[in-house]
Amino acid sequence: MKSKTATASERTPLITTLPIASPRPRYPHAVVRRFCTIALASVLTWFFLSVAVSLTLFPDGHGHHGHHSHRTWPGWGRRKVDYDQLKRILLDTPSSEKAEEWSRYYTAGPHLAGKNYSQALWTKDLWEKFGVKSDIVSYDVYINYPVDHRLALLKKEKQDDGASAWKVSFEASLTEDVIDEDPTTSLADRIPTFHGYSASGNVTAPVVYVNYGTYQDFEDLIKANVTLEGKIAIARYGGIFRGLKVKRAQELGMIGTILYSDPGDDGDVTEENGYAVYPDGPARQPSSVQRGSTQFLSVAPGDPTTPGYPSKPGAPRQPVHSAIPSIPSVPISYQDAIPILRALNGHGPKVKDFNKYWNRNMGLQYKGVHYNIGPTPDDVVVNLYNEQEYETTPLWNVIGVINGTIPDEVIVVGCHRDAWIAGGAGDPNSGSAVLNEAIRSFGEALRLGWKPLRTIVFASWDGEEYGLIGSTEWVEEYLPWLRGANVAYVNTDTAAGGPDLFVSAAPLLDNLIYSVTAEVPSPNQTVPGQTVFDLWDKNIHTMGSGSDFTAFQDFAGIPSVHIGFDAGYKAVYHYHSNYDSFHWMEKFGDPGFVYHKAMAQILGLMTAKLAEMPVIPFMATDYAKALDSYVKKVEDKLGAALHLPQVEEDLSVLAINDDEVYFELRSRAHNTSALTTTSSSSPPDAGSFKTHLRRLHHALEKLTERAMKLDKRAKHLELDFEGVPWWHWPARIKLALAIRKVNTKYKYLERAFLHEQGLDGRPWFKHVVFAPGLWTGYAGAVFPGLMESIDAEDWKNAERWVDIIESRILNAAKGL
Ligand SMILES: *[C@@H]1O[C@H](CO)[C@@H](O)[C@H](O)[C@H]1NC(C)=O
Ligand SMILES: *[C@@H]1O[C@H](CO)[C@@H](O)[C@H](O)[C@H]1NC(C)=O
Ligand SMILES: *[C@@H]1O[C@H](CO)[C@@H](O)[C@H](O)[C@H]1NC(C)=O
Ligand SMILES: *[C@@H]1O[C@H](CO)[C@@H](O)[C@H](O)[C@H]1NC(C)=O
Ligand SMILES: *[C@@H]1O[C@H](CO)[C@@H](O)[C@H](O)[C@H]1NC(C)=O
Ligand SMILES: *[C@@H]1O[C@H](CO)[C@@H](O)[C@H](O)[C@H]1NC(C)=O
Ligand SMILES: [Zn+2]
Repeated sequence: MKSKTATASERTPLITTLPIASPRPRYPHAVVRRFCTIALASVLTWFFLSVAVSLTLFPDGHGHHGHHSHRTWPGWGRRKVDYDQLKRILLDTPSSEKAEEWSRYYTAGPHLAGKNYSQALWTKDLWEKFGVKSDIVSYDVYINYPVDHRLALLKKEKQDDGASAWKVSFEASLTEDVIDEDPTTSLADRIPTFHGYSASGNVTAPVVYVNYGTYQDFEDLIKANVTLEGKIAIARYGGIFRGLKVKRAQELGMIGTILYSDPGDDGDVTEENGYAVYPDGPARQPSSVQRGSTQFLSVAPGDPTTPGYPSKPGAPRQPVHSAIPSIPSVPISYQDAIPILRALNGHGPKVKDFNKYWNRNMGLQYKGVHYNIGPTPDDVVVNLYNEQEYETTPLWNVIGVINGTIPDEVIVVGCHRDAWIAGGAGDPNSGSAVLNEAIRSFGEALRLGWKPLRTIVFASWDGEEYGLIGSTEWVEEYLPWLRGANVAYVNTDTAAGGPDLFVSAAPLLDNLIYSVTAEVPSPNQTVPGQTVFDLWDKNIHTMGSGSDFTAFQDFAGIPSVHIGFDAGYKAVYHYHSNYDSFHWMEKFGDPGFVYHKAMAQILGLMTAKLAEMPVIPFMATDYAKALDSYVKKVEDKLGAALHLPQVEEDLSVLAINDDEVYFELRSRAHNTSALTTTSSSSPPDAGSFKTHLRRLHHALEKLTERAMKLDKRAKHLELDFEGVPWWHWPARIKLALAIRKVNTKYKYLERAFLHEQGLDGRPWFKHVVFAPGLWTGYAGAVFPGLMESIDAEDWKNAERWVDIIESRILNAAKGL
């Protein structure tokens, strides 16, 4: 499969320069470390010389006061580029042609995690050429590479002599078709189809169709007395993180898992509906395979052998059995899935005999699949063979830094670089290209003499695909520094796969996101002058997981935003497939690379506002209000649990059409049979929990009141800042100190919601408000401690979580 010799030479340069194991350093690398040491050693000097002077001498009004723009100020500290000029540069510099050029480079060859040192080096050199000092920061991580695989359908057949023998009735290709007009698909060194962190194994058994493989899908199978133990699961992709499908199958005694992409989940754009398939049209290429990680992401991301601490050479390593699967799994195309699903025809119940959650998106009926559940009889079995090589190998993050004037206020902006395939034009290289364009734009400003108020750190992460490894290890390494200094983290990943803006973020950042998107012109000028904001559904999703913001938001308590343009349903996005290629991007995803340009403008402007506004552009009130709405969500869920049939019924009507509701509902880890039998004894406990919950509203009233005061004060200071003339030293210094105080409160607000012991059964996740759902993996669960306790009907634990959350809210209020 993959040639190991070809990549060995890629890694050699770094192996020789790997640092020897050392005590955990507190800063990212020499540049920042030196910078901060000096800064910390001279807090007083810094206060008066840096903050006071910068805010005093820099007269630019940040925003609408363009009249300052071209004034310069004599002497030390003069500001050559003010915010208005910076904004112009960040809007004018990004170009579609350049983004296309970067995209062409990154998608030219394989760049699986830890396999392409030259792409890291190239990225570092490019950033330095733009004027941003950069370094490669490496970790030694435990990951797998594919060696061999096989998937075949076997039938026992009677021979002429009366004896019976196994015959291969179908051999899955496990490869994606070569397409002449898409050169990426024919690269000699293209990456085989496989799962990150999958177990090696060779199993042969009857097969069972398990729908999406959600927690509740498996519960339904148990209720219907479908034998799971000793069988191989075939699950459709979608909705929840793939590793959790494998996890539940494994827990229930299944011995292998096959994951396939059902075209029924592609919306209307299907071959069945008359759309041509890629490359002739926007429908899914039938041989496309979704690779991806099967790590148990909702338990902990990062290197599974070093949970909570960085994978530096020599670091102690933990056993991995609770973090990654022990049963083998393979991803397949729908072309390969059809014969296996057909083999189930006539065996076991049909999905029609099951509830409505099983009767949606059946995209292969027209191909003769009846969607029987099985299992197949003992004389119709599948052989699943999977061989993976595990090794501990270096990964390479590229880290660039622009020093700011205030050393302990830092903005981090990142995107990963590794991909499952040689292409990855959408995931992640639209993001890599966009990040390069944003950095090139900041480089233009630097050339004109601009220096940011706050330090900006850029990151090109490696190993995201296996489990957010590069970013997680980096955050784990620099945790003390980040907790003290990191104001916000801005993430992009698939930055431009189509025209639909997707945003998830911490509520502190909502207002900033609205204002930035309203300043960037949409590439769609059907109505002249319309902005990205105008064409966006304005839905800001809660933080879950699934990209590199996870360690920042959920582990370190740093408010984060994740932003990108999605393909939507206009053209099927071939996620983690060979067809996420430069050619697909050019033809269907983002012709002309215009959404790449828009995202580079958004990224630049968002970073600039975070780094340049004298008052950090957060809204504490939005956070307090969001928290109150989350408590209401918990109350609704409790209501649903207590008055089961009716509320659940209402929800289920919604659920069939709304994926988010569907998968939230289907991922509840309650045992419905247990629920109906014990519900008569639960009300008293649940009732006391309900009263308990009300305390959160009281605590939130306190937080809201303080948050409103803080936001009001911030607004005043912002106006004062524009009003006080630059030469009025005493007033400017007083103002600078007041702003500093407000900014510090903003900076630490998110941190107040960390609970050191972490969530139940997953101590790595420390945020009491945001975490990926335990059984969804991607989607954000709010107040996971409460939600999971309700699912489990553990009212005692639920009350314990009310106490924890209440103390966190009061802690946050106190901090304001
Ligand atoms: C950032 O500041 C540190 C300490 O003052 C300095 O050593 C480093 O060279 C600076 N980096 C850049 C890119 O200016
Ligand atoms: C690394 O990436 C470059 C640029 O995409 C590519 O040309 C090269 O073949 C890759 N190297 C390896 C070892 O895969
Ligand atoms: C898998 O196991 C079967 C016997 O159970 C054996 O016949 C077959 O050769 C094995 N496959 C591989 C690739 O080792
Ligand atoms: C459940 O299945 C087992 C065998 O798999 C069978 O022995 C048993 O009778 C079934 N029970 C019901 C209630 O269908
Ligand atoms: C472009 O904008 C128009 C007008 O706002 C809208 O109706 C249309 O759906 C948009 N097209 C795309 C591809 O977003
Ligand atoms: C669900 O609850 C029932 C009744 O308490 C129990 O018999 C069954 O084993 C449980 N199932 C699972 C998967 O925990
Ligand atoms: Zn990605």
